[in-house]
Amino acid sequence: MKRSIEDHAARFSAVAAEYDEQQDSDEYGACASLVIEGADPGPEETVLDLGTGTGAIALALAPDAGRVLGRDISEGMLAEARQKAEAGGHENVSFGEGRFRTPNVDADVDVVVSNFAMHHLADEEKREAIETIAALEPRRFVLGDVMLSAAIPEGEEQYSPEVDDPATVGVLLETLTDAGFSVSNVTLVSDQYGVLVADR
Ligand SMILES: C[S@@+](CC[C@H](N)C(=O)[O-])C[C@H]1O[C@@H](n2cnc3c(N)ncnc32)[C@H](O)[C@@H]1O
Repeated sequence: MKRSIEDHAARFSAVAAEYDEQQDSDEYGACASLVIEGADPGPEETVLDLGTGTGAIALALAPDAGRVLGRDISEGMLAEARQKAEAGGHENVSFGEGRFRTPNVDADVDVVVSNFAMHHLADEEKREAIETIAALEPRRFVLGDVMLSAAIPEGEEQYSPEVDDPATVGVLLETLTDAGFSVSNVTLVSDQYGVLVADR
């Protein structure tokens, strides 16, 4: 990680109130829709959303799932998510502190999702995170994120190289496969963004 967990948490808490209105890029919209569609939880299933932020994915999945757990490191983002859950009357969703490598979950999880969050980890840390997710034994993991499928010239990054550390699509596919997942769907939204659906 290029910044500590505490730095990332503080950075997101500082922008939490404006976060939702700033997510207006085509890439964000495309990835979020594909993650929601790919997760496809059943009415009895429990979904875990890692790096849930203000709960965009968790809350979109709530009507279809039995239960949704949102986990994040930023108290400010979690506070926004809780407010939205209450306003929307989503009683099957709860938000709490949890990290990719220590998700803080005490229930069986059927589907894990994560959108626009794992790129904060270095590749070796992503490997540990994906192994942690596999150990939860979900039937599916859907990852939407910054992921590189071409060399991006300096200055043309659509992410912040000083804080973000995206993996190549190849590294993610290899890591998922090593952890026991079978990747059933790869959608490259652009050469910097994509969504992977991985089944066990
Ligand atoms: C760009 S936001 C994405 C939020 C949400 N998933 C969405 O699609 O709008 C990234 C989130 O990841 C969280 N995050 C960063 N590092 C994390 C970690 N190691 N474990 C859990 N969450 C993390 C941040 O606090 C932030 O809320």
